[in-house]
Amino acid sequence: EKGGFDWFMRKEIFEQPQAIADTLLGRYNNRGELVLDEMRSISQEDLRRVNKIVIVACGTAYYAGMVAKYAIEHWTRVPCEVEVASEFRYRDPIIDPLTLCVTISQSGETADTLMAIRHARVQGAKVIAICNTNGATIPRESDAVIYTHAGPEIGVASTKGFLTQVAACYLLGLYLAQVRGMKYADEIRAVTDELGRTPQMIQQLLDNAQQVYDLARDLSSINDFIFLGRHVGYPVALEGALKLKEIAYQHAEGFAAGELKHGPIAIIEPGMPVFVIVPPQGRDQLHDKVVSNIQEVRARGARTIVLVEEDDADVEAYSNVIIRLPRVSTLLQPLVAAVPLQLFACELATLLGHDVDQPRNLAKSVTVE
Ligand code: M6R
Repeated sequence: EKGGFDWFMRKEIFEQPQAIADTLLGRYNNRGELVLDEMRSISQEDLRRVNKIVIVACGTAYYAGMVAKYAIEHWTRVPCEVEVASEFRYRDPIIDPLTLCVTISQSGETADTLMAIRHARVQGAKVIAICNTNGATIPRESDAVIYTHAGPEIGVASTKGFLTQVAACYLLGLYLAQVRGMKYADEIRAVTDELGRTPQMIQQLLDNAQQVYDLARDLSSINDFIFLGRHVGYPVALEGALKLKEIAYQHAEGFAAGELKHGPIAIIEPGMPVFVIVPPQGRDQLHDKVVSNIQEVRARGARTIVLVEEDDADVEAYSNVIIRLPRVSTLLQPLVAAVPLQLFACELATLLGHDVDQPRNLAKSVTVE
């Protein structure tokens, strides 16, 4: 049933091109407009009136929500907050009938997330669930749902769940932009086309898995890992660190690259592996700023593992290892950048002899608060 793979997790990582393709399938009509067919009791008029979006989720799904915030605010100009579900309802959040609550859950059964959406609905907010499990409690208790079509995810560490959540969040952001008036019509069309090409980009990374496996072997005696990213690369850094903690039981931390100088750079020691996700070239100054961050940690002896788009030569002098990513726009980069980090965690945990699919102390779905 693992289809020739040693772990469900590895199988699920390799299923991602198909999972993304399936999640995108059938979402557009013949005029190229997005059609989300389970909006149920949420009308287009409701979506036009929304003045705030609140995303609630846990763990990896929360990181997908962080990616979504960047995309949704950029495309819709609607303020968007993202919060871990377990914090949300206990701080008396400001929600009203003009708030759209978006919840993300692979299982659809996470208790913290369920409690958060119940709270949002009591305050009059409409709730859209992004979920991978048909008929689970969270989509049943929501006003609308966008199902990710990843297929069952068995490995406790979420992989295809994450990527399809990110893709579904983009669909939601583009849909909101479409319904509310296409201020960014050209960009939205371009993103739609590009999204359609991401399965083949992910496949390209999977075809190069051996490079990442070799890296895991080289780093198998290390116990501390740092991940840096900026903009949508920041949640990818957090996700890369979470994967290592979950299944390899190694200390790993993700930081916003710009925060380095505000403290975390003090922990860098010679030989410490620092993974850096570099934004594509040519957008704002993000790329150059992250390249400077690589220089800064390198100057302190870090071993830099740099994830960067294929024709970017700016990092070569400061990288110990370069993992090439297919060319993609900044907002969509998480769909490719997360993949080598998943492969790395899976391989490292395997080399360390851990049960990758059922890590200690963790359950696939956390049904208690
Ligand atoms: O089923 P959910 O998406 O609601 O689960 C949320 C988290 O418990 C989950 O993403 C957890 O962090 C994973 N084990 C991460 O790999």
